[in-house]
Amino acid sequence: MIEIRDVTKTYLRGETQVHALRGVSCEIAAATFNFILGPSGSGKSSLLYLIGALDNPTSGDVSIDERSLTAMTTPERDAYRRNEVGFVFQSFNLLSNLDAVDNVLVPWLPSGVSAALRQQAESLLKQVGLGDRLDHRPNQLSGGEQQRIAIARALLKKPRVVLADEPTGELDTATGAEVFQLLRGLCAEQNTTVIVVTHDESFLTPDDRVLRMRDGKLE
Ligand SMILES: Nc1ncnc2c1ncn2[C@@H]1O[C@H](COP(=O)(O)OP(=O)(O)O)[C@@H](O)[C@H]1O
Ligand SMILES: [Mg+2]
Repeated sequence: MIEIRDVTKTYLRGETQVHALRGVSCEIAAATFNFILGPSGSGKSSLLYLIGALDNPTSGDVSIDERSLTAMTTPERDAYRRNEVGFVFQSFNLLSNLDAVDNVLVPWLPSGVSAALRQQAESLLKQVGLGDRLDHRPNQLSGGEQQRIAIARALLKKPRVVLADEPTGELDTATGAEVFQLLRGLCAEQNTTVIVVTHDESFLTPDDRVLRMRDGKLE
């Protein structure tokens, strides 16, 4: 379970303080599909990045399975991000000179990739419907295909949590729906907790949990 307690986040823009989060508390149960909704600038991404330990809150705490992210040492936070969190971003974040398989394997390339891991990457790409695109580079693929590579990359480590920031923001509605279907299916198989930031409510189903943000607070 993820617990968010009295979290505030204040950025400095020049001399001006920007209060992105103004006291947010909530709990997110394990293996659930959650949406963070709200207008642009309401603090959705800020909250997501705190859950992913990409940033620290100004005050308050985020914990996962009773481990406080703010109390962790830097190596512990790095290990949490590397091993337990899968990130999916609006802009796919793929490397243009690598093919689909290597893009899935990017996090592991520096330390060397075993044959078994390469095989897992290929099988995951087949699961997301890209079995015949394994050696294609991002510029040979559609937006939806690129986002499916990014999802495969996020899921290869079998993360406990998948954090997706506007994952369908650059996709048309039909392609977006396909991407959500994949994300739901794969994460249900792995009992992954999913948190998706979006401002498109058309992808919600009745079982989803919804956090609505406005002006840095939960409604
Ligand atoms: N790194 C930053 N520096 C300064 N202000 C920021 C930074 N990141 C976000 N903000 C501001 O914080 C507020 C909330 O941003 P954000 O969490 O990105 O909202 P959302 O994802 O809902 O659009 C906005 O006013 C935004 O401009
Ligand atoms: Mg955002």
